[in-house]
Amino acid sequence: MLRQLTRSMGPTSRLLKQVNYGTNAPAGTHIPVTKALEIGQWEEKLKAAGVEDRKFNVKCIVSHVLKQKFSSVPDSFDQLQLNPGQLADFERFLEARCARMPLQHIIGEWDFMDITLKTSPSVFIPRPETEEFMRLVIDDHKNAKHVDLLEVGCGSGAMSLSMLHSLPQVVATAIERSKAATVLAAENAKMLGLLNRFEVHNHTMEEDKYLPEALKDKKYDLIISNPPYVKTEEFQFLHPEVVVYENLNALDGGSDGLRVARLVFDLACRHLRPGGKLWLELGNDHPPMVKTIMNLKYEGRLKFIAGYSDQYQRERFVQIEKV
Ligand SMILES: C[S@@+](CC[C@H](N)C(=O)[O-])C[C@H]1O[C@@H](n2cnc3c(N)ncnc32)[C@H](O)[C@@H]1O
Repeated sequence: MLRQLTRSMGPTSRLLKQVNYGTNAPAGTHIPVTKALEIGQWEEKLKAAGVEDRKFNVKCIVSHVLKQKFSSVPDSFDQLQLNPGQLADFERFLEARCARMPLQHIIGEWDFMDITLKTSPSVFIPRPETEEFMRLVIDDHKNAKHVDLLEVGCGSGAMSLSMLHSLPQVVATAIERSKAATVLAAENAKMLGLLNRFEVHNHTMEEDKYLPEALKDKKYDLIISNPPYVKTEEFQFLHPEVVVYENLNALDGGSDGLRVARLVFDLACRHLRPGGKLWLELGNDHPPMVKTIMNLKYEGRLKFIAGYSDQYQRERFVQIEKV
């Protein structure tokens, strides 16, 4: 979408006019990145817009515009030059960032563990904590001979595809309520050469309609999910990047944040093999609540194994076993 926007706004940069190259900058005219930053006052504009990690943001945009690996771009931007087309993109992308469009949507792709995924404006952006979560899940299954995996709510496909990429013995099925996310996950699987072990169904899990008709008798060794878990009352505290640009169906977990997770518990009772695992990424205060729910409601069917903390020492991940 952003690329279309860029094209429709034309290639002439305001900045080239400002530095007196004239409205029609001669072909081959280049401007140093440092100069473009200074004259455009981008540091000040990003700060005024409330963007944090400004150096990182600018470096990501520079590496994207110059089509250079992030790690090969010097922090000083020394020697780096932009031609008129690159400068137009550079300004457009920084303007979008000042409007708090997430970097991932501006760039159109994002690294998750060892894979690169395409992103799309209406599809949930995979988060760094989910990488931590997936390391735990992958580690727990690295010695298994074969794993039939089901993911509930796969978004871009980040979780299933990173697992397939790491472990050749895994075969994954995903369900996803958003059509756009379903299409994107399939595209990402194809791009990564993993489509032969991945299928995704556009299906909304509901009570008594947990899986699509074609999967209704299937059993799995592992179910993973990062369901919507933000409590409705917490929406007022979310950043503009999330509230304005993310699909709220991907986030809203109802009054206690566990509305979708509760459906996943019921689904796990029906579709996990005995001894199979359910791993969930949830909100800060959820693991103790899940432990209580397991003891009160699922005794003899599902057993709470453990809760795990993320790098910020917030207990966020749970492991449950089918009895
Ligand atoms: C928090 S996002 C996680 C996406 C992805 N797993 C990740 O970690 O990047 C939750 C996803 O679940 C999907 N979803 C929400 N409710 C669902 C339901 N009842 N059935 C299927 N998918 C659902 C949303 O559309 C969204 O893509």
